[in-house]
Amino acid sequence: MFDIIDLIRNNIRELIPYSSARDENSGDGAVLLDANESPYNTPFNRYPDPLQMELKERISDLLSTPSDRIFLGNGSDEAIDLLIRIFCEPSADRVIIIDPSYGMYKVCADINNVRVDFVSLNEDFSLDADRLLAALIQETKMVFLCSPNNPSSNLLDPSEIIKILSEFQGIVVLDEAYIDFSGTDGMLPLLGDYKNLVILRTLSKAWGLAGIRLGMALADPGIIQYLNKVKYPYNVNYLTQLKALEMLHSVNNKEDWIEKILTERKELENRLTGIAVVKKIYPSDANFLLVRVEDPVGIYSYLNKQGVIVRNRSHMTHCEGCIRITVGTPDENNRLIALMKSYPQ
Ligand SMILES: Cc1ncc(COP(=O)(O)O)c(C=O)c1O
Repeated sequence: MFDIIDLIRNNIRELIPYSSARDENSGDGAVLLDANESPYNTPFNRYPDPLQMELKERISDLLSTPSDRIFLGNGSDEAIDLLIRIFCEPSADRVIIIDPSYGMYKVCADINNVRVDFVSLNEDFSLDADRLLAALIQETKMVFLCSPNNPSSNLLDPSEIIKILSEFQGIVVLDEAYIDFSGTDGMLPLLGDYKNLVILRTLSKAWGLAGIRLGMALADPGIIQYLNKVKYPYNVNYLTQLKALEMLHSVNNKEDWIEKILTERKELENRLTGIAVVKKIYPSDANFLLVRVEDPVGIYSYLNKQGVIVRNRSHMTHCEGCIRITVGTPDENNRLIALMKSYPQ
């Protein structure tokens, strides 16, 4: 196996990171006169734990993954950006992104002036590892996979992912933002076997916490160290750490919500099936449905005018005529169905 650390940009390897006031453990009851904070308005006056250790311990228990394999960020979007910055030399290195997929991989690559090569999924949105491996060039440092994939909503075949992990001598980022809706555990158990695997997870979906912005990267401790080195010192704020800890102690809530969403996903699928303008509903492993309709632009704006907002995905590869519908509450879904039925043809 090649050495992951050799893939890191030289300037990042040599970087001396900012040393924040609380890097050394201050101990309970210490008089804190080191960080120019206000002595008033406890506890909000204090900078938060830069490495979010308490939160990581809890996540470590929940995911059965050691805390030195966990990076926490301001949404998993932060991890996407940092990974590109750590591994990809602007104007020189390149990344491969499956197509169609989540738009932020390309946006982050573009911001960092890193060239993107797209490799299209099959018509049914399955992954062809051989096609992707054939697209690798000397400059390819990183591959982005997403399972279940957005916007196609399907899980990618684990054996195709493993093929890429074994044969590509670079970083494989596997985004599992929607894994909790898939009825599978995802690829976390493979972290120990593949040092080039980085898994992204988020509290924005099944945990119902998109507003607090907490996402994570799970990877070899060597990669985690570099993510910690380049992140802003206090990238996860105090309120987010507090709320996340509270919610992560009520796992039942999350399980209950997932069950409701999965029941509603099935219900929505059944009811959409009978509607005249609906041509195809793709099988979903996520909390949304990709639906091919007669007139996507017309339907999108009709729904929009009535206050129901969905996403038009027609312009994306293999998604011609498709809208993406997030599974809502029963009331919200009823509203959507009623409008879809009343769409004037
Ligand atoms: C595949 C995928 N990854 C990541 C994200 C963003 O996650 P976060 O809210 O943690 O930044 C999204 C958001 O829609 C997504 O669809």
